[in-house]
Amino acid sequence: MSNPSLLILPGDGIGPEVMAEVRRIIDWYGAKRGLVFDVSEDLVGGCAYDAHGTPLHDDTMAKAQEVDAVLLGAVGGPKYDSLDFSLKPERGLLRLRKEMDLYANLRPAQCFDALADFSSLKTDVVAGLDIMIVRELTSGVYFGEPRGIFEEGNERVGINTQRYTESEIDRVARSAFELAMRRNRKLCSMEKANVMESGVLWREVVTEVGKDYPEVALTHMYADAGAMQLTRWPKQFDVIVTDNLFGDLLSDLAAMLTGSLGMLPSASLGAPMANGRPKALYEPVHGSAPDIAGQGKANPIACILSFAMALRYSFDQGAEADRLEKAVERVLADGLRTADLLGQEGVAPVTTAEMGSAILAALDASL
Ligand code: IPM
Ligand code: MG
Repeated sequence: MSNPSLLILPGDGIGPEVMAEVRRIIDWYGAKRGLVFDVSEDLVGGCAYDAHGTPLHDDTMAKAQEVDAVLLGAVGGPKYDSLDFSLKPERGLLRLRKEMDLYANLRPAQCFDALADFSSLKTDVVAGLDIMIVRELTSGVYFGEPRGIFEEGNERVGINTQRYTESEIDRVARSAFELAMRRNRKLCSMEKANVMESGVLWREVVTEVGKDYPEVALTHMYADAGAMQLTRWPKQFDVIVTDNLFGDLLSDLAAMLTGSLGMLPSASLGAPMANGRPKALYEPVHGSAPDIAGQGKANPIACILSFAMALRYSFDQGAEADRLEKAVERVLADGLRTADLLGQEGVAPVTTAEMGSAILAALDASL
C-alpha cells in the first residue's frame, strides 16, 4: 500500500515559518512511529499570485483534489490589499474550500490549563473549556448569488445573498451530530430565525436531522444571543453548529476565550473519497500576521495542532494525535511561551523554532 499523501501549502506571512515546524513533526512521525507521508509542497495566496498571477494555480487545485489531506499555513498580506477582489490571496483559500466541497469546518476552542489565566475572561469562566464550533463553509452569504457592486439609479449598491438549501443544512448538521455523539452529546444550533428565512429553514432542517440522533440534546439559539452566552458562560456549550458567516464571527470569539489565536487549529471536511477518507484541509485559525512575519516570533502551535487534527480525522491515528496534543500541553506546562503568549514579566519568549524543538523533545520523551 502506498503512503498517505499530504499537500503542504505554507502560504504567506508567518505561514512558512510555522509550517517549517510542522514538517519537522511530520518527519518525526516517519522516523519514530513508522508513519511515513508522501509530502508535496506548493503555493497558495499572495506568493502564488507573485509566481503565477493567480492566488491558486489550476495545477495546485488539481493536486489538492488528489491528496489524502491538505495542510495550509496562512494567506494574505498588506502588499495585496489593492488587488482586484478575484485575485486577492483569500480567494485561493476560498477556492480550495469550495471546489473540494469542504462543507464542515471544525474549530475547537480549548483552553490549555497552563494558559487559563491568559484569557481576557476570568479564569473560572474558561478553565477546562473545550468546545467545538462546526461552521458551514461552502455556502451562505460567502458564496450566494447575486453578489457584486451594481449601479442602481444614481448610486451603487453592494449585494451579497444569504442562501441555504435543505441538503446543505442537512449535511453539515449530520457532521455536527456525529461529532456530538463522540463528545458529550450536546449540540446547540445558532442562526437568526427571528429575522432571516434562511434561519427558519436552518432551524427546521437541524431539528429534523436531530430525530436521527435522539441521544443528542439539541438546543437552538439566536446567533447574537449565542455570542453573548459564549462570553458569559462558555462552558454551557459542547458542540455548536452554525452557518458560514456566523461561524466566522463566533469562532473568532470562541478562539479568544482561550487566550490566543496562536493556539487554535481547524479542520475542514467534505464527503468521503473513494478510500473512505473525507476530503480534508487543515489550517490554523490565525491569519498570516504580516507584522511579525520572518522574525521567528510566530507561535507554531496552531499549525502543529492542525496536523494533530489531520492525524485524527484523516488518518485514523487518534492515539498519535493524543500524543502530539499531550506534547504541546507538556511544553506549555513547562512554561515555554512564544511572544503572543507572554503576560508575565521576566519570562523571555522562545522563538518559533525553539517551540518546535521543545515539542519534538516532548514527543521523544513520550516514547
Ligand atoms: C477564516 C478567515 C477567512 C474567512 C478569510 C481569510 C477568507 O477569516 O478562515 O475564518 O472569512 O472564512
Ligand atoms: Mg475568520
